[in-house]
Amino acid sequence: MGSLDGKNAIVTGGASGIGRAVAERLAAEGASMTVADVDEEAGNETARSIGGHFVRCDVSDPAQLDAAVAEARGAGYLDIAHLNAGITTGENDLTSLSRDAYRRAMGINLDGVIFGTKSCLGAMRNGGSIITTASLAGLGAMPSDIIYSVNKHAVVGFVRSAAPQLAEHGISINAICPGFVDTPILGPFGERFRQAGFPLLEATEVADALMKVLDSGLSGEVFVVQPGLIAEPYRFRGLPGPRTEGAQGMVPPVQPGP
Ligand SMILES: NC(=O)c1ccc[n+]([C@@H]2O[C@H](COP(=O)([O-])OP(=O)(O)OC[C@H]3O[C@@H](n4cnc5c(N)ncnc54)[C@H](O)[C@@H]3O)[C@@H](O)[C@H]2O)c1
Repeated sequence: MGSLDGKNAIVTGGASGIGRAVAERLAAEGASMTVADVDEEAGNETARSIGGHFVRCDVSDPAQLDAAVAEARGAGYLDIAHLNAGITTGENDLTSLSRDAYRRAMGINLDGVIFGTKSCLGAMRNGGSIITTASLAGLGAMPSDIIYSVNKHAVVGFVRSAAPQLAEHGISINAICPGFVDTPILGPFGERFRQAGFPLLEATEVADALMKVLDSGLSGEVFVVQPGLIAEPYRFRGLPGPRTEGAQGMVPPVQPGP
């Protein structure tokens, strides 16, 4: 008996790296897995190896996300969604950054999370859990890939801002922010890290972190994962309030919203 027997789960970007490790872990816990990815060969292979099924899905297209989520819920509900697919921008010089490279990164890294969440809202019931893969580049500056860092900051802001609304549906949303993980996304930099003796996370350690998030019962949190550090919610500093006479540190009476 696994802890996730009878649960339906989807992992975007599940054909490789972190997503694959998470798909394997959730399947080992008994979840019925859907692997969503643009890489059909690797995605099918992952799905086959865990007894799940593969859906071709480009996460930058909301209609494809809707279709993948519909497939994952089947005749029931979706219980767990790991919105994980991501890319690096591949262009970092702002003087020559192309709109295409910018839109591609925004589409996959950010639209994929926001519209993925929207798709999940129509397919989850009370108790559903959404976990996004952000990055430490979403908490600190990453001058070597500016747009990637922008995307990941946005994912962190989305998770923190959307959590109260999702709570009204009984759905939790959290982010995982790993440091550098030994996956194909690092490209040739992986070897540079190894040569420098810099510790890289294994994708399975990020899967461990995801299980911890699922068990936490928390929402709106951003879990930092670093080698040797047990995944834990990042503690943000409070924002300074007004400092005018009579309104020291006053909290706004309303949160502007819909
Ligand atoms: N590896 C790291 O150091 C690291 C650190 C922090 C965060 N992350 C984040 O982790 C997530 C997973 O990355 P990874 O390290 O496993 O890399 P990876 O390259 O091994 O896996 C990424 C997967 O996303 C898929 N993908 C790419 N574009 C897609 C699209 N349009 N639609 C659907 N799937 C698509 C790829 O085919 C691949 O299977 C990403 O969001 C990445 O930004 C990675």
